[in-house]
Amino acid sequence: MAFKLPELPYAYDALQPYMSKETLEFHHDKHHNTYVETGNKLLEGSGLEDKSLEEIVKQSYGKNAGLFNNAGQHYNHLHFWNWMKPNGGGAIPGALEAKIKEDLGGVDKFKEDFIEAGKTQFGSGWAWLALKGGKLEVMKTPNGENPLVHGATPILGVDVWEHSYYIDYRNKRPDYLKAFVENLVNWEYVEKLYNEAK
Ligand SMILES: [Fe+2]
Repeated sequence: MAFKLPELPYAYDALQPYMSKETLEFHHDKHHNTYVETGNKLLEGSGLEDKSLEEIVKQSYGKNAGLFNNAGQHYNHLHFWNWMKPNGGGAIPGALEAKIKEDLGGVDKFKEDFIEAGKTQFGSGWAWLALKGGKLEVMKTPNGENPLVHGATPILGVDVWEHSYYIDYRNKRPDYLKAFVENLVNWEYVEKLYNEAK
């Protein structure tokens, strides 16, 4: 299936002051759009045209780097817009919170580890909360890679490419990660993906 740039699920200025209108304009309209356009060009003739996005990501991994990078980034960003909301952060829905406590040593420990994964992803990439073999794990991946290609299902991810934070936070990636966790995460969307992945 051809890739299509979605509308943002909120106004461009809705995540201020934690993520600016300018960041979202560049990140969504320019960066994500480039992944969609380039991905569609590379999808043509790849033999994967009729597959789902998830299948395109998994089947191009290690075989068609150009297509994989763009399809992976399209998948990651489709979810990334929904992993944030105005007045985000806050309480984690009960069943998911219990699972985080059970598998990851508590909510505070999870937040620390998730932020640490983002901080220590050298260069561009993503930090994740993913479900693998029935257990939650904090992961990190380089560039456009994601947990799908490691046998896991991502339920939360944060983009640590500089294009995601440099306008608002300059080089202070840890400040961006803290703001993401405390003020932007859309836990209802994370819970929805968790329920689907279970
Ligand atoms: Fe991005």
